[in-house]
Amino acid sequence: MIIKINNKNNPVIVERSNALTGTIDTPSDKSISHRALILGMLCIGETKIHNLLLSEDIKSTISALEQFGANINVQEQPNITSVYGIGIGGLLQPKRKIYLGNSGTSVRLLIGLMSSCDVCAEFEGDSSLSRRPMGRVLEPLKEMGLEIMSDDTEHLPLKLQGTAYPIPINHILKVPSAQIKSALMLAALNIRGSSIIIETTKTRDHTEKLFEYFGADIQTRINDAGHKEIMINGQKRLSPSQIDIPGDPSSAAFFIVAALISKGSKLSIKNVMINPTRSLFIDYLISMGAKIDFTKKYTKCGEEVSDIDVSASELKGITTSLDDAPSIIDEFLILSVAAAYAKGDSRFCGVSELKVKESNRLDAIINMLTSSGVKCEMDNDDLIIHGNGEVPGGSNIKSNYDHRVAMSALILGLATKKPVRIDDVSPIPTSFPNFMEIYHRIGGNSYSG
Ligand code: S3P
Repeated sequence: MIIKINNKNNPVIVERSNALTGTIDTPSDKSISHRALILGMLCIGETKIHNLLLSEDIKSTISALEQFGANINVQEQPNITSVYGIGIGGLLQPKRKIYLGNSGTSVRLLIGLMSSCDVCAEFEGDSSLSRRPMGRVLEPLKEMGLEIMSDDTEHLPLKLQGTAYPIPINHILKVPSAQIKSALMLAALNIRGSSIIIETTKTRDHTEKLFEYFGADIQTRINDAGHKEIMINGQKRLSPSQIDIPGDPSSAAFFIVAALISKGSKLSIKNVMINPTRSLFIDYLISMGAKIDFTKKYTKCGEEVSDIDVSASELKGITTSLDDAPSIIDEFLILSVAAAYAKGDSRFCGVSELKVKESNRLDAIINMLTSSGVKCEMDNDDLIIHGNGEVPGGSNIKSNYDHRVAMSALILGLATKKPVRIDDVSPIPTSFPNFMEIYHRIGGNSYSG
């Protein structure tokens, strides 16, 4: 798989739209797409993935797995990807540096994957990924035997030597992060004996579910301290599977909020995964007064999914809890747009992790809203947004090469009094390749500018 590097800015101006209407298909989940490819690579035989997300981040994972020896055949229509794996511990020595573009999930999960195998890998990324912290995943893996060959042990580029003699992991997660948890779990798959990973704050649980789905020896329980304990007995052969990826709630979130804030709107959004570690933002929106109906619920590859109807609603401010922060981490941006249009103050508790995402998203929210005429401020680690039911706009918003900042700004501009300009929407295909097509089809008003 060849990765295209797009350096061309694409500025747009958004004008207030009329009512948004129509039916939307949610693109496939990014987190599950990465994991399905990686687990397919760890099986011997063919894993068939239906509806893989074909976004830039996923292409990064595909090309890295090919370098480690997987044979991956992507078919776009119908969307079926075959992964011919090489088994646990069968990773080949990559011949070239591994470029992972903008994708934090790819790099952290793949570091975990290679760390318990006797291979040396050099990981690189774009300028945004090269600023993101990696020590949080390297530290616990060093205890297991991973060797860091680079001088800078916190950032990409990183040269890493995995170990042929890994020691079982026994680790309590210091940062509530599904990426770190998953990296350790992937390392554990190739470690003889029992590894134990404990999480004290809930994070997305797709890796646990998929390990069970592919037949790994995994047990989870709540320990005496009330924390989730994951035990993995390594070196058990996985079974190749068929898997159908459900829709990404983090992508659906943009159009859910679009319908809520644009007067007279009514959207039907199909195939939204409602795994409780991912869909809490919907519960928060409902408590803000959002009219959201779950019209049809079903299950896809062990995940609960629903079609939902959303109508324009009068919103009021809310407080989100500290413990829920990891479960809504990717939705704070778009929730901040909902809070800007709500009447009353909203408080988002414990938001500092936003500073180390694809861009500093805390600064991005504050800049986007204050420049658009909405007051917000920090109170220690909490963000407070003073909504008064309408947003003046007239702002020039920088996306900082962050897909979710660009999409949030495009949604904000749907209902501002004055137009909003966004300096660059080119990063959107990182997670949501057909976002602009859907945006225009349902009535969104934007043009190049
Ligand atoms: C992800 C976990 C989250 C999230 C990211 C995807 C995953 O990151 O922000 O977009 O697929 O595991 P953290 O685990 O660093 O919070």
